Amino acid sequence: MDCFDRDQESTRLWRYFKNGKNVLMLAPRRIGKTVLLNRIKDESSQYGFHAIVLDVEGFSDEKAFFRQMCAAIQEEIGVGQSVLAGLTERLKRIVHGAESQGDWRKILLDIDWNDFADHLLAQLQEEKDGKPWLFLVDEIPIFTKSLLEKSGPKNTHDFLYTLRNLRQKHRKVLWLYTGSIGMDTICRRSGVEGALVDMEIYPLEPFNRQTAANFLAHIAKKNQCTFTPDAIETILARLGWLSPYYLEKIAEAACDKATDNQNIDNEAADHAANSLLELSRRTYWSTWREHLDKNFPDPERTHLFTILAEIARTPTGASIDVLLTALNPVNGPTGEEILRSYLDTLEADGYLSSNEPRDQYRFRMNLLREWWLRYVVLRTHHG
Ligand SMILES: Nc1ncnc2c1ncn2[C@@H]1O[C@H](COP(=O)(O)OP(=O)(O)OP(=O)(O)O)[C@@H](O)[C@H]1O
Ligand SMILES: [Mg+2]
Repeated sequence: MDCFDRDQESTRLWRYFKNGKNVLMLAPRRIGKTVLLNRIKDESSQYGFHAIVLDVEGFSDEKAFFRQMCAAIQEEIGVGQSVLAGLTERLKRIVHGAESQGDWRKILLDIDWNDFADHLLAQLQEEKDGKPWLFLVDEIPIFTKSLLEKSGPKNTHDFLYTLRNLRQKHRKVLWLYTGSIGMDTICRRSGVEGALVDMEIYPLEPFNRQTAANFLAHIAKKNQCTFTPDAIETILARLGWLSPYYLEKIAEAACDKATDNQNIDNEAADHAANSLLELSRRTYWSTWREHLDKNFPDPERTHLFTILAEIARTPTGASIDVLLTALNPVNGPTGEEILRSYLDTLEADGYLSSNEPRDQYRFRMNLLREWWLRYVVLRTHHG
């Protein structure tokens, strides 16, 4: 996947890394975290780093995390094999119980993961070429959530604090964590907010208007089409929040339908935006509903759906007063403070935006509002 633009973001992140900072980059689904991570990986040699992308979705215990980390290191051409050979030697020499036959995989089975991790990082830190290492860990909140469910808060706490200690002890090994769900929510649930305080928070934003317009033109060109300036304006307005994923989907839908001279006008653009709400494409948006279904237990979940249903009903959104009224019958009296914390969550996770006095909330993406109304509010008891 080619990364369109994101030049500023990349420069900013590299500045952090060159200054020895670790970064926590949280952002909603589909905004381009993984694409950016891969760009950083591709740029790493020019900045003098060894960078490793580590996707930890699908793993749920500590040893699996470090096994995956070693497997990814092993693939690093030129150094990977020797790092792991060095690690195996080191473990056999130093760690009680690791004298047995076999390589690092075997030893990891037999010893404590904490010891293993410490020696792994020490080995990286001492690597002969002196280059710093950068681990780009994708979907760490999902991993943390699985760990929490499988092993409970105490082990989750230990794991995250161990990573923090490793960051402090081995300064030439840097980390970027990313993921699409509120790491803060998960940390709060397991009482480990403190485990991330040393990291720089970097919120990845959607494209700005200019980049979004360029991106639309770029996709059109790839498909031998062009958008009129009006058509571009229409798409930006319909989306409202310029996530590369949805820009790409609309542009592709428009190009698919383009006929004579491949010129896409206002009306065609509007039509393409509408087509994203069709039954056949409704799954483009379903991650937004799944996010609430998966990550929030009741009664929060029901409350969040109630709030979104109310806000979806009008394009201009709903006021705090209206929302308080809507929420009250759900489950007894719900105070403004609780409502505000729900709204903060929905804003942080990309659903909503608010005006300045923060008394009016609307959907950040207009098309998502339309989708929500059609496929969630009008179809379920959540309405
Ligand atoms: N900079 C970009 N240039 C081109 N396409 C992009 C860019 N960023 C995102 N996209 C498009 O959006 C899609 C989603 O991007 P990506 O997978 O990086 O998002 P994500 O934030 O990791 O999403 P998730 O939370 O679902 O993992 C990509 O497959 C690509 O089609
Ligand atoms: Mg991703």
